[in-house]
Amino acid sequence: MDLGLILNKEELTREEIIFLLSLTGNEEINALFGRADEVRRQFSGDEVHLRGIIDFSNFCEQNCIYCGLREENFSITRYRMTPEEIIETAKIISNEGIYTVVLQSGEDSFYDTDMISYIIYSIKQNTNLAVTLSIGERRFDEYKAWKIAGADRYLLKHETSDEKHYFAYHNRQRLYDRINHLRYLKQIGYQVASGSLIGLPMQSIENIADDILLCKELDVDMAAFGPFIPVPFTPYKSHKQGSVELTLKTIAAARLVLKDVHIPATTALDSIDKEGREKGLKCGANVVMPDFTPHPYREKYIIYPGKRGIAEDPLSAHKMIKRRIEAIGRKISASRGDTLKKNTPSI
Ligand code: 5AD
Ligand code: SF4
Repeated sequence: MDLGLILNKEELTREEIIFLLSLTGNEEINALFGRADEVRRQFSGDEVHLRGIIDFSNFCEQNCIYCGLREENFSITRYRMTPEEIIETAKIISNEGIYTVVLQSGEDSFYDTDMISYIIYSIKQNTNLAVTLSIGERRFDEYKAWKIAGADRYLLKHETSDEKHYFAYHNRQRLYDRINHLRYLKQIGYQVASGSLIGLPMQSIENIADDILLCKELDVDMAAFGPFIPVPFTPYKSHKQGSVELTLKTIAAARLVLKDVHIPATTALDSIDKEGREKGLKCGANVVMPDFTPHPYREKYIIYPGKRGIAEDPLSAHKMIKRRIEAIGRKISASRGDTLKKNTPSI
């Protein structure tokens, strides 16, 4: 295959995506990253959109095999933030000049339909923030209620597009349902984010190409790819960590395939490489998601060990992230950073 030709094609085939993900030579990989950087600039400019995260509960009713928050991990201390604490933290995020809050938790039914609606509504009343929910699979009527309460976006990663692997990683859940939830969310007007983990046991390069293609099929507004990091006290504790290089190649290939989407340089990537964010931003990513969860909860949201910035004060960690973004010549966006897709209502 001719790399130069592929990098400039409008539409990539599955085989061509696999070819890109399999590149090994430095020169070739740099050509891929350079082209992804160009496509990013063309569709999203030099602005980096910040999304302030509040990890408001680390209780989880699921048992995903790779995750530190899984129900059967009895080694961690669980916490729940009150609606008032969550709303106050959202105000801090807004005062920092950020335009999106991500309300994130394990799957925790303690927060019922009305509680989540109340939190969304109060944030919308008190700030100009776009609200993203990242709270797992819930009932369809709840998605609808939260949309009416003012939620703008929903983050629900498909984690893997291989049905058998999906069942092996999450034996209480099915890929078919996850896809239906994502379709429904999109249909009722949410801007939707999905994505997958890179480097999970059993995963092949072909699987990753299919993960990117599933994001395309679902017409997602944001696609997130982060490396798998092994977690003590979970079944995958002794497995190998996902590779930085493969994660970056995935981000770059995703940018070439998906074009007008947001792609984050994830905290997981930054946690396994001290320049992870910069590297991600230079090969296709245009979003960073700083963690605003206050102490003493912050240090307890341990999806994986070694999470970057967890020991620091949220405001100083945020300042450092901004400095790093500006140091590579990128600007912090002063807009909500809604979907890049044309013909989609943004509010
Ligand atoms: N390493 C990296 N990311 C993980 N996630 C869960 N477990 C891990 C891990 N061990 C990610 C998943 C999920 C989110 C809650 O965190 O992709 O969507
Ligand atoms: Fe729970 Fe999400 Fe972790 Fe699965 S990945 S155990 S749903 S927090």
